[in-house]
Amino acid sequence: MSAPSSTTTGITAPQSDIDLFSDEVLSVNDDAVFAQLRELGPVVYLPANDAYAITHYGEVRAALSDPVTFSSKAVAFNPQMNEILSGTSLAADPPEHGKLRAILTDNLSPRAMRGMKDDINASARQLVSELIQQDSFDGMADMAVAFPVSVVLDLIGVQGDLRERILPWGEAAFNLLGPLNERAQASFPVAGELFKWTHEEMQGADLAEGSIGRAIFEASERGDISPESFGYIVHQILAAGMDTTITTIGNALVLLGQHPEQFQKLREDVSLVPSALAEVLRLRTPAPVFGRRATTDVVVGGTLIPAGSQVAMCYGAANMDPQKFENPDVFDITRNAVDHIGFGYGIHSCAGQGLAKLEINGLLTAWAQQVEDYRIGAVVPRLNNFTRPYESIEITDIRRA
Ligand code: HEM
Repeated sequence: MSAPSSTTTGITAPQSDIDLFSDEVLSVNDDAVFAQLRELGPVVYLPANDAYAITHYGEVRAALSDPVTFSSKAVAFNPQMNEILSGTSLAADPPEHGKLRAILTDNLSPRAMRGMKDDINASARQLVSELIQQDSFDGMADMAVAFPVSVVLDLIGVQGDLRERILPWGEAAFNLLGPLNERAQASFPVAGELFKWTHEEMQGADLAEGSIGRAIFEASERGDISPESFGYIVHQILAAGMDTTITTIGNALVLLGQHPEQFQKLREDVSLVPSALAEVLRLRTPAPVFGRRATTDVVVGGTLIPAGSQVAMCYGAANMDPQKFENPDVFDITRNAVDHIGFGYGIHSCAGQGLAKLEINGLLTAWAQQVEDYRIGAVVPRLNNFTRPYESIEITDIRRA
Protein backbone atom coordinates (compact mmCIF):
# COMPACT_ATOMS: atom_id res chain seq x y z
CA MET A 1 0.00 0.00 0.00
CA SER A 2 1.32 3.49 -0.74
CA ALA A 3 1.64 6.13 1.95
CA PRO A 4 -1.70 7.59 2.93
CA SER A 5 -2.94 10.71 1.23
CA SER A 6 -5.53 13.35 2.11
CA THR A 7 -9.06 12.46 1.17
CA THR A 8 -12.34 14.21 1.53
CA THR A 9 -13.60 11.62 4.00
CA GLY A 10 -10.95 11.96 6.68
CA ILE A 11 -7.70 13.48 7.83
CA THR A 12 -4.36 11.98 6.79
CA ALA A 13 -2.80 9.95 9.58
CA PRO A 14 0.40 11.23 11.16
CA GLN A 15 3.33 8.93 10.43
CA SER A 16 6.12 7.47 12.51
CA ASP A 17 9.19 5.50 11.45
CA ILE A 18 8.80 3.17 14.43
CA ASP A 19 8.82 -0.55 13.51
CA LEU A 20 6.75 -2.27 16.19
CA PHE A 21 8.64 -5.55 15.64
CA SER A 22 12.27 -4.36 15.43
CA ASP A 23 14.88 -5.59 17.93
CA GLU A 24 15.26 -2.00 19.06
CA VAL A 25 11.58 -1.61 19.97
CA LEU A 26 11.22 -5.09 21.46
CA SER A 27 14.23 -4.64 23.74
CA VAL A 28 13.22 -1.30 25.27
CA ASN A 29 10.38 -0.67 27.63
CA ASP A 30 7.26 -0.27 25.46
CA ASP A 31 6.15 2.80 27.42
CA ALA A 32 8.50 5.17 25.61
CA VAL A 33 7.54 3.86 22.15
CA PHE A 34 3.82 3.91 22.88
CA ALA A 35 4.01 7.37 24.47
CA GLN A 36 5.57 8.70 21.24
CA LEU A 37 2.81 7.12 19.16
CA ARG A 38 0.01 8.28 21.49
CA GLU A 39 1.30 11.83 21.31
CA LEU A 40 1.17 11.76 17.52
CA GLY A 41 -2.54 10.91 17.66
CA PRO A 42 -5.12 8.16 18.15
CA VAL A 43 -4.19 6.75 14.72
CA VAL A 44 -0.62 6.71 13.40
CA TYR A 45 0.53 5.24 10.09
CA LEU A 46 3.68 3.09 10.38
CA PRO A 47 5.32 2.64 6.94
CA ALA A 48 7.76 0.04 8.37
CA ASN A 49 4.81 -2.22 9.18
CA ASP A 50 2.46 -0.87 6.50
CA ALA A 51 -0.07 -0.60 9.32
CA TYR A 52 -2.28 1.94 11.01
CA ALA A 53 -1.62 1.87 14.77
CA ILE A 54 -4.60 2.71 17.01
CA THR A 55 -3.06 4.07 20.19
CA HIS A 56 -5.65 5.73 22.46
CA TYR A 57 -7.76 3.79 24.95
CA GLY A 58 -11.16 5.06 23.76
CA GLU A 59 -10.43 4.40 20.09
CA VAL A 60 -8.97 0.91 20.75
CA ARG A 61 -12.05 -0.09 22.79
CA ALA A 62 -14.42 1.32 20.16
CA ALA A 63 -12.61 -0.52 17.35
CA LEU A 64 -12.68 -3.80 19.31
CA SER A 65 -16.44 -3.35 19.71
CA ASP A 66 -16.80 -3.42 15.91
CA PRO A 67 -15.39 -6.78 14.70
CA VAL A 68 -17.16 -6.42 11.35
CA THR A 69 -15.21 -3.29 10.39
CA PHE A 70 -12.03 -4.55 12.11
CA SER A 71 -11.66 -8.14 10.92
CA SER A 72 -9.50 -10.65 12.80
CA LYS A 73 -8.57 -12.38 9.54
CA ALA A 74 -5.42 -10.24 9.83
CA VAL A 75 -4.75 -10.85 13.53
CA ALA A 76 -1.18 -11.76 12.52
CA PHE A 77 1.01 -9.38 10.54
CA ASN A 78 1.79 -11.88 7.77
CA PRO A 79 -0.55 -13.70 5.36
CA GLN A 80 0.93 -17.19 5.89
CA MET A 81 0.18 -17.18 9.60
CA ASN A 82 -3.30 -15.76 9.04
CA GLU A 83 -3.91 -18.67 6.68
CA ILE A 84 -2.60 -21.19 9.24
CA LEU A 85 -4.83 -19.65 11.91
CA SER A 86 -8.01 -19.84 9.87
CA GLY A 87 -10.12 -22.35 11.79
CA THR A 88 -9.25 -20.81 15.17
CA SER A 89 -11.54 -18.40 16.99
CA LEU A 90 -8.65 -15.94 17.24
CA ALA A 91 -8.63 -15.39 13.48
CA ALA A 92 -12.38 -15.81 12.82
CA ASP A 93 -15.06 -13.16 12.31
CA PRO A 94 -18.76 -13.39 13.17
CA PRO A 95 -20.76 -15.54 12.68
CA GLU A 96 -18.10 -18.28 12.40
CA HIS A 97 -16.31 -16.88 15.44
CA GLY A 98 -19.25 -17.50 17.77
CA LYS A 99 -19.32 -21.25 17.01
CA LEU A 100 -15.59 -21.74 17.44
CA ARG A 101 -15.52 -19.65 20.60
CA ALA A 102 -18.44 -21.54 22.19
CA ILE A 103 -16.48 -24.81 22.14
CA LEU A 104 -13.55 -23.11 23.83
CA THR A 105 -15.54 -21.27 26.47
CA ASP A 106 -17.52 -24.40 27.36
CA ASN A 107 -14.23 -25.88 28.45
CA LEU A 108 -12.50 -22.78 29.78
CA SER A 109 -15.40 -20.98 31.51
CA PRO A 110 -15.07 -19.95 35.17
CA ARG A 111 -17.56 -22.75 35.93
CA ALA A 112 -15.45 -25.35 34.14
CA MET A 113 -12.35 -24.01 35.90
CA ARG A 114 -13.84 -23.95 39.39
CA GLY A 115 -13.07 -27.60 40.04
CA MET A 116 -9.38 -26.95 39.36
CA LYS A 117 -8.98 -24.07 41.79
CA ASP A 118 -8.01 -26.05 44.89
CA ASP A 119 -5.48 -28.16 43.00
CA ILE A 120 -3.90 -25.11 41.35
CA ASN A 121 -3.66 -23.27 44.68
CA ALA A 122 -2.13 -26.30 46.40
CA SER A 123 0.45 -26.68 43.58
CA ALA A 124 1.28 -22.96 43.83
CA ARG A 125 1.84 -23.20 47.61
CA GLN A 126 4.01 -26.28 47.14
CA LEU A 127 6.15 -24.72 44.40
CA VAL A 128 6.70 -21.48 46.36
CA SER A 129 7.60 -23.34 49.55
CA GLU A 130 10.21 -25.40 47.66
CA LEU A 131 11.72 -22.42 45.85
CA ILE A 132 12.16 -20.25 48.93
CA GLN A 133 14.28 -22.88 50.63
CA GLN A 134 17.08 -21.58 48.35
CA ASP A 135 18.98 -18.31 48.72
CA SER A 136 18.15 -17.35 45.18
CA PHE A 137 16.43 -18.80 42.11
CA ASP A 138 15.54 -17.93 38.52
CA GLY A 139 12.07 -16.37 38.60
CA MET A 140 11.51 -17.34 34.96
CA ALA A 141 12.67 -20.96 34.58
CA ASP A 142 11.88 -22.05 38.13
CA MET A 143 8.56 -20.27 38.61
CA ALA A 144 7.06 -18.31 35.69
CA VAL A 145 7.73 -21.16 33.23
CA ALA A 146 7.55 -24.21 35.49
CA PHE A 147 4.11 -23.45 36.92
CA PRO A 148 1.98 -22.83 33.80
CA VAL A 149 3.69 -25.66 31.95
CA SER A 150 2.64 -28.18 34.59
CA VAL A 151 -0.87 -26.69 34.97
CA VAL A 152 -1.58 -26.59 31.23
CA LEU A 153 -0.20 -30.09 30.61
CA ASP A 154 -2.51 -31.39 33.33
CA LEU A 155 -5.40 -29.46 31.83
CA ILE A 156 -4.90 -30.96 28.39
CA GLY A 157 -4.21 -34.32 29.98
CA VAL A 158 -0.83 -34.83 28.30
CA GLN A 159 0.73 -37.75 30.07
CA GLY A 160 4.23 -38.04 28.62
CA ASP A 161 6.92 -35.47 29.27
CA LEU A 162 6.40 -32.86 26.55
CA ARG A 163 7.74 -30.02 28.68
CA GLU A 164 10.77 -29.36 26.56
CA ARG A 165 8.84 -29.30 23.29
CA ILE A 166 5.92 -27.22 24.45
CA LEU A 167 7.86 -24.12 25.42
CA PRO A 168 9.60 -23.53 22.09
CA TRP A 169 6.31 -24.30 20.34
CA GLY A 170 4.45 -21.60 22.27
CA GLU A 171 7.21 -19.08 21.77
CA ALA A 172 7.37 -19.80 18.04
CA ALA A 173 3.60 -19.41 17.68
CA PHE A 174 3.82 -15.87 19.11
CA ASN A 175 6.84 -14.94 16.97
CA LEU A 176 4.81 -15.95 13.93
CA LEU A 177 2.07 -13.44 14.70
CA GLY A 178 4.51 -10.69 13.72
CA PRO A 179 5.68 -9.78 10.20
CA LEU A 180 8.03 -12.18 8.39
CA ASN A 181 11.21 -10.89 10.00
CA GLU A 182 14.04 -13.26 10.95
CA ARG A 183 12.41 -14.20 14.24
CA ALA A 184 9.23 -15.25 12.45
CA GLN A 185 11.06 -17.10 9.64
CA ALA A 186 13.04 -19.12 12.16
CA SER A 187 9.83 -20.01 13.98
CA PHE A 188 7.99 -21.70 11.09
CA PRO A 189 9.61 -25.15 11.50
CA VAL A 190 9.21 -25.08 15.29
CA ALA A 191 5.55 -23.99 15.20
CA GLY A 192 5.02 -26.57 12.44
CA GLU A 193 5.89 -29.30 14.96
CA LEU A 194 3.13 -28.06 17.28
CA PHE A 195 0.66 -28.07 14.40
CA LYS A 196 1.75 -31.58 13.35
CA TRP A 197 1.40 -32.87 16.89
CA THR A 198 -2.04 -31.34 17.55
CA HIS A 199 -3.43 -32.17 14.09
CA GLU A 200 -1.77 -35.49 13.19
CA GLU A 201 0.08 -37.20 16.01
CA MET A 202 -1.91 -36.46 19.16
CA GLN A 203 -4.15 -39.37 20.10
CA GLY A 204 -7.22 -38.16 21.98
CA ALA A 205 -7.55 -41.50 23.71
CA ASP A 206 -4.06 -41.04 25.21
CA LEU A 207 -5.12 -37.90 27.05
CA ALA A 208 -5.78 -38.40 30.76
CA GLU A 209 -9.30 -39.39 31.83
CA GLY A 210 -11.17 -36.40 33.28
CA SER A 211 -8.91 -33.82 31.60
CA ILE A 212 -10.33 -31.01 29.50
CA GLY A 213 -8.35 -32.31 26.51
CA ARG A 214 -10.07 -35.68 26.85
CA ALA A 215 -13.51 -34.01 27.17
CA ILE A 216 -12.91 -32.10 23.92
CA PHE A 217 -11.76 -35.32 22.23
CA GLU A 218 -14.92 -37.10 23.39
CA ALA A 219 -17.01 -34.21 22.01
CA SER A 220 -15.32 -34.76 18.63
CA GLU A 221 -16.00 -38.53 18.81
CA ARG A 222 -19.69 -37.85 19.51
CA GLY A 223 -19.71 -35.58 16.46
CA ASP A 224 -20.47 -32.45 18.57
CA ILE A 225 -17.42 -30.82 17.00
CA SER A 226 -15.39 -31.73 13.94
CA PRO A 227 -12.16 -33.74 14.37
CA GLU A 228 -10.21 -30.71 13.04
CA SER A 229 -11.70 -28.52 15.78
CA PHE A 230 -10.25 -30.85 18.40
CA GLY A 231 -6.73 -30.22 17.05
CA TYR A 232 -7.31 -26.47 16.76
CA ILE A 233 -8.61 -26.16 20.32
CA VAL A 234 -5.68 -28.01 21.86
CA HIS A 235 -3.37 -26.01 19.60
CA GLN A 236 -4.91 -22.74 20.75
CA ILE A 237 -4.75 -23.61 24.44
CA LEU A 238 -1.11 -24.66 24.18
CA ALA A 239 -0.02 -21.76 22.00
CA ALA A 240 -2.11 -18.92 23.47
CA GLY A 241 -1.96 -20.03 27.08
CA MET A 242 1.76 -20.34 27.63
CA ASP A 243 3.91 -17.34 26.76
CA THR A 244 1.29 -14.82 27.88
CA THR A 245 0.94 -16.39 31.33
CA ILE A 246 4.69 -16.93 31.66
CA THR A 247 5.39 -13.30 30.74
CA THR A 248 2.80 -12.02 33.23
CA ILE A 249 4.18 -14.05 36.15
CA GLY A 250 7.68 -12.74 35.39
CA ASN A 251 6.37 -9.17 35.19
CA ALA A 252 4.55 -9.52 38.53
CA LEU A 253 7.70 -10.80 40.26
CA VAL A 254 9.79 -7.95 38.87
CA LEU A 255 7.26 -5.17 39.56
CA LEU A 256 6.56 -6.33 43.13
CA GLY A 257 10.29 -6.82 43.76
CA GLN A 258 11.09 -3.34 42.46
CA HIS A 259 8.27 -1.77 44.52
CA PRO A 260 8.71 -3.23 48.03
CA GLU A 261 6.04 -0.88 49.47
CA GLN A 262 3.48 -2.38 47.05
CA PHE A 263 4.60 -5.88 47.97
CA GLN A 264 4.11 -5.07 51.66
CA LYS A 265 0.57 -3.84 50.90
CA LEU A 266 -0.12 -7.13 49.18
CA ARG A 267 1.29 -9.10 52.11
CA GLU A 268 -0.92 -7.19 54.53
CA ASP A 269 -4.03 -7.81 52.45
CA VAL A 270 -3.90 -10.71 50.00
CA SER A 271 -7.43 -9.91 48.86
CA LEU A 272 -5.60 -7.29 46.74
CA VAL A 273 -4.12 -10.05 44.55
CA PRO A 274 -6.69 -9.73 41.70
CA SER A 275 -6.25 -5.94 41.66
CA ALA A 276 -2.45 -6.38 41.67
CA LEU A 277 -2.73 -8.73 38.68
CA ALA A 278 -4.89 -6.24 36.76
CA GLU A 279 -2.28 -3.56 37.46
CA VAL A 280 0.57 -5.80 36.23
CA LEU A 281 -1.38 -6.52 33.02
CA ARG A 282 -2.07 -2.81 32.54
CA LEU A 283 1.44 -1.51 33.21
CA ARG A 284 3.32 -4.33 31.46
CA THR A 285 0.84 -5.57 28.87
CA PRO A 286 2.28 -9.00 27.96
CA ALA A 287 1.00 -9.09 24.35
CA PRO A 288 0.79 -5.37 23.58
CA VAL A 289 -0.18 -5.41 19.86
CA PHE A 290 -2.71 -7.51 17.89
CA GLY A 291 -3.58 -7.12 14.21
CA ARG A 292 -6.88 -6.47 12.41
CA ARG A 293 -7.89 -5.61 8.82
CA ALA A 294 -10.17 -2.63 8.04
CA THR A 295 -12.92 -4.13 5.89
CA THR A 296 -14.15 -0.71 4.75
CA ASP A 297 -12.95 2.93 4.82
CA VAL A 298 -13.33 3.93 8.45
CA VAL A 299 -12.65 7.18 10.30
CA VAL A 300 -11.14 6.68 13.75
CA GLY A 301 -10.43 9.68 15.98
CA GLY A 302 -10.90 11.94 12.96
CA THR A 303 -8.40 9.99 10.84
CA LEU A 304 -9.18 7.86 7.82
CA ILE A 305 -8.10 4.22 7.77
CA PRO A 306 -8.59 3.07 4.17
CA ALA A 307 -10.42 -0.19 3.40
CA GLY A 308 -8.04 -3.16 3.25
CA SER A 309 -5.43 -1.63 5.59
CA GLN A 310 -3.58 -3.64 8.19
CA VAL A 311 -4.40 -2.22 11.63
CA ALA A 312 -2.23 -2.58 14.76
CA MET A 313 -4.39 -2.49 17.89
CA CYS A 314 -1.99 -1.19 20.52
CA TYR A 315 -3.34 -2.62 23.78
CA GLY A 316 -0.10 -1.65 25.51
CA ALA A 317 -0.49 2.00 24.45
CA ALA A 318 -4.17 2.06 25.47
CA ASN A 319 -3.33 0.68 28.90
CA MET A 320 -0.94 3.59 29.49
CA ASP A 321 -3.26 6.30 28.14
CA PRO A 322 -3.31 9.19 30.65
CA GLN A 323 -6.80 10.13 29.44
CA LYS A 324 -7.99 6.84 30.88
CA PHE A 325 -5.60 6.01 33.74
CA GLU A 326 -4.38 8.73 36.11
CA ASN A 327 -0.58 8.71 36.50
CA PRO A 328 -0.40 5.68 34.19
CA ASP A 329 3.30 5.01 34.81
CA VAL A 330 2.77 4.57 38.57
CA PHE A 331 2.52 0.94 39.75
CA ASP A 332 -0.37 0.97 42.21
CA ILE A 333 -1.82 -2.40 43.18
CA THR A 334 -4.86 -0.72 44.76
CA ARG A 335 -5.85 0.96 41.47
CA ASN A 336 -8.15 -1.97 40.59
CA ALA A 337 -7.65 -1.39 36.86
CA VAL A 338 -10.38 -3.87 35.92
CA ASP A 339 -10.99 -2.15 32.60
CA HIS A 340 -7.43 -2.62 31.30
CA ILE A 341 -7.14 -4.18 27.84
CA GLY A 342 -4.40 -6.70 28.68
CA PHE A 343 -6.86 -9.52 27.91
CA GLY A 344 -8.26 -7.67 24.88
CA TYR A 345 -11.89 -6.57 24.74
CA GLY A 346 -15.09 -7.53 22.93
CA ILE A 347 -15.79 -10.82 21.19
CA HIS A 348 -12.10 -11.84 21.03
CA SER A 349 -11.30 -11.00 24.66
CA CYS A 350 -9.14 -13.73 26.12
CA ALA A 351 -11.03 -17.04 26.29
CA GLY A 352 -8.45 -18.39 28.75
CA GLN A 353 -8.46 -15.53 31.23
CA GLY A 354 -10.29 -17.61 33.86
CA LEU A 355 -7.45 -20.12 33.82
CA ALA A 356 -4.76 -17.42 33.63
CA LYS A 357 -6.24 -15.65 36.67
CA LEU A 358 -6.49 -18.91 38.63
CA GLU A 359 -2.83 -19.69 37.94
CA ILE A 360 -1.40 -16.23 38.57
CA ASN A 361 -3.64 -15.33 41.52
CA GLY A 362 -2.77 -18.69 43.12
CA LEU A 363 0.93 -18.09 42.68
CA LEU A 364 0.87 -14.45 43.87
CA THR A 365 -1.18 -15.38 46.93
CA ALA A 366 1.28 -18.14 47.86
CA TRP A 367 4.19 -15.77 47.24
CA ALA A 368 2.73 -12.97 49.40
CA GLN A 369 1.87 -15.41 52.20
CA GLN A 370 5.20 -17.19 52.33
CA VAL A 371 7.72 -14.45 51.51
CA GLU A 372 8.38 -11.42 53.70
CA ASP A 373 10.79 -9.67 51.41
CA TYR A 374 12.97 -10.29 48.32
CA ARG A 375 15.13 -8.46 45.83
CA ILE A 376 15.45 -8.54 42.05
CA GLY A 377 19.01 -9.08 40.76
CA ALA A 378 19.97 -9.37 37.09
CA VAL A 379 17.05 -9.32 34.67
CA VAL A 380 17.58 -10.44 31.06
CA PRO A 381 14.89 -9.76 28.41
CA ARG A 382 14.03 -12.24 25.64
CA LEU A 383 12.92 -10.84 22.30
CA ASN A 384 9.64 -12.09 20.84
CA ASN A 385 7.56 -10.46 18.09
CA PHE A 386 4.34 -10.55 20.12
CA THR A 387 5.05 -11.06 23.82
CA ARG A 388 7.50 -9.34 26.15
CA PRO A 389 9.01 -12.11 28.29
CA TYR A 390 12.23 -12.17 30.27
CA GLU A 391 14.86 -14.80 29.63
CA SER A 392 15.77 -14.85 33.32
CA ILE A 393 15.03 -12.97 36.55
CA GLU A 394 17.39 -13.38 39.47
CA ILE A 395 15.38 -13.50 42.70
CA THR A 396 17.69 -12.91 45.67
CA ASP A 397 17.71 -12.00 49.39
CA ILE A 398 14.57 -14.01 50.03
CA ARG A 399 13.28 -13.59 53.60
CA ARG A 400 10.74 -16.24 54.45
CA ALA A 401 7.62 -15.17 56.34
C1 HEM B 1 -2.00 -13.59 31.38
C2 HEM B 1 -2.27 -14.46 30.43
C3 HEM B 1 -2.96 -14.11 29.15
C4 HEM B 1 -3.04 -12.92 28.46
C5 HEM B 1 -2.43 -11.59 28.86
C6 HEM B 1 -3.84 -13.14 27.28
C7 HEM B 1 -4.14 -12.17 26.34
C8 HEM B 1 -5.04 -12.34 25.31
C9 HEM B 1 -5.49 -11.29 24.44
C10 HEM B 1 -5.04 -9.84 24.48
C11 HEM B 1 -6.39 -11.83 23.58
C12 HEM B 1 -7.18 -11.08 22.49
C13 HEM B 1 -6.57 -11.23 21.12
C14 HEM B 1 -7.22 -10.31 20.11
O1 HEM B 1 -7.72 -9.24 20.47
O2 HEM B 1 -7.19 -10.65 18.92
C15 HEM B 1 -6.50 -13.23 23.89
C16 HEM B 1 -7.31 -14.13 23.21
C17 HEM B 1 -7.30 -15.49 23.47
N1 HEM B 1 -6.66 -16.15 24.50
FE1 HEM B 1 -5.51 -15.30 25.93
N2 HEM B 1 -4.21 -14.46 27.25
C18 HEM B 1 -3.71 -15.09 28.37
C19 HEM B 1 -3.87 -16.42 28.72
C20 HEM B 1 -4.57 -17.35 27.99
C21 HEM B 1 -4.73 -18.74 28.35
C22 HEM B 1 -4.19 -19.39 29.63
C23 HEM B 1 -5.43 -19.34 27.34
C24 HEM B 1 -5.90 -20.76 27.18
C25 HEM B 1 -5.92 -21.64 28.09
C26 HEM B 1 -5.74 -18.30 26.38
C27 HEM B 1 -6.47 -18.50 25.23
C28 HEM B 1 -6.92 -17.49 24.40
C29 HEM B 1 -7.76 -17.73 23.24
C30 HEM B 1 -8.27 -19.07 22.77
C31 HEM B 1 -8.00 -16.47 22.66
C32 HEM B 1 -8.83 -16.18 21.40
C33 HEM B 1 -10.23 -15.84 21.80
C34 HEM B 1 -11.12 -15.44 20.64
O3 HEM B 1 -10.62 -15.04 19.60
O4 HEM B 1 -12.34 -15.55 20.79
N3 HEM B 1 -5.20 -17.11 26.80
N4 HEM B 1 -5.68 -13.53 24.97
